[in-house]
Amino acid sequence: MQSDENYQFTAKVYDILDRTYFRKAASSPRNAVISILGDEPLKILDMCTGTGANAFAIAGARKNAKVIGVDISAAMLKKAAAKLEQEKISNVKLIHTDASKLQFPNEEFDVVLISLVLHEISPDLAGKLLGEARRVLKTAGKLIVVEWEEPVSQLKKIPFYLVKKLEPAAFEDFLKCEMDQYFFQFGFEMMQTIHCAYSKVMVLSKNDHI
Ligand SMILES: C[S@@+](CC[C@H](N)C(=O)[O-])C[C@H]1O[C@@H](n2cnc3c(N)ncnc32)[C@H](O)[C@@H]1O
Repeated sequence: MQSDENYQFTAKVYDILDRTYFRKAASSPRNAVISILGDEPLKILDMCTGTGANAFAIAGARKNAKVIGVDISAAMLKKAAAKLEQEKISNVKLIHTDASKLQFPNEEFDVVLISLVLHEISPDLAGKLLGEARRVLKTAGKLIVVEWEEPVSQLKKIPFYLVKKLEPAAFEDFLKCEMDQYFFQFGFEMMQTIHCAYSKVMVLSKNDHI
């Protein structure tokens, strides 16, 4: 995982990522996440929200959703807070905290989102985050995970090469990981996978296997 010191720089340039890799609305993972959500009032936790890309996209498209974005990096949250202020978004709350030790009660959320995080953190931290995600998710709730996916097209492999170069050494192994089995060990069952630009959006439910 990058230290908050590294995120001081990343925060300044992070939103270029969306403008580069996810700029087409039809194949954007941010829009795929929204498409999974129903129209009913939902309480949504965006774990490791960063600069809030998913949180704000959801809040704009689902006005009756209440979104809480948590992140450990003050620098990333500062960027998110500036957008919150500028765009006058009222259904997003940002909290500066460690997502591996959440203060929320059990089964508080209809949806928990973990986007572009698991590939860059240690297996130990990933286990803790998924443990907390499972704890705060309602029994019938959905865990939504966004992760990078190597494109099939040779042309798209070129920009993806840059992502590979910027990510930690374990990134390539994570890309090859069998996702059904990966999440099964943490008590989740894969329900659906949506393939998006350079990424995939996975929808999971809680199972009884832990
Ligand atoms: C690559 S960014 C992803 C941001 C956002 N979810 C997205 O989809 O663009 C990873 C984020 O995870 C956050 N993070 C890493 N470990 C964390 C932890 N233990 N608790 C909360 N946030 C954490 C980092 O601070 C960073 O903002």
